Amino acid sequence: MGTRGREIVGMDVDKLIGKLNAALADEWLAYYQYWVGARLAKGPMRGIVSSELNEHAGEELEHAEILVERILQLGGKPILNPKDWFEKTNCGYDTPMDPSTMSLLEQNIKGEQCAIDVYVKLMNEVKDADPITYNIIVDILEDEVQHEEDLQAIFEDIEMMKEKHICA
Ligand SMILES: [Fe+2]
Ligand SMILES: [Fe+2]
Repeated sequence: MGTRGREIVGMDVDKLIGKLNAALADEWLAYYQYWVGARLAKGPMRGIVSSELNEHAGEELEHAEILVERILQLGGKPILNPKDWFEKTNCGYDTPMDPSTMSLLEQNIKGEQCAIDVYVKLMNEVKDADPITYNIIVDILEDEVQHEEDLQAIFEDIEMMKEKHICA
């Protein structure tokens, strides 16, 4: 922990660490939802959907790493037990019961929209108090916005293919 680095944060640091841990729980759950979805995917454009989900999984894991680094810098303790993910999460976990590509895309789009809302809220909370966390959140938010767009673009392509009866 950097003592001075913690002192310059103009808000309740323990509360901030709690919020970063909630985001950390979200990232791990999002990681697994993508990772397992990439392996289950069936139906139209399965190869493209699968590789997109896999790529997103990797980026959610990077977000988890960035958040842990900041939690440690602030003198906090990252979530140590996966059981706590479900207690702390903002966005939860959407079990991919239906492996069809469209259903997986829909679930993950919903997840990204939740992530965007969470990071926008956090960004506004730290804006004037903690420029370092602010920068981290903005970087992650940029990725989540891109994720939503990536998934929606593939979803639209599949819908167009269906309309044109290119695939069943
Ligand atoms: Fe993320
Ligand atoms: Fe994401």
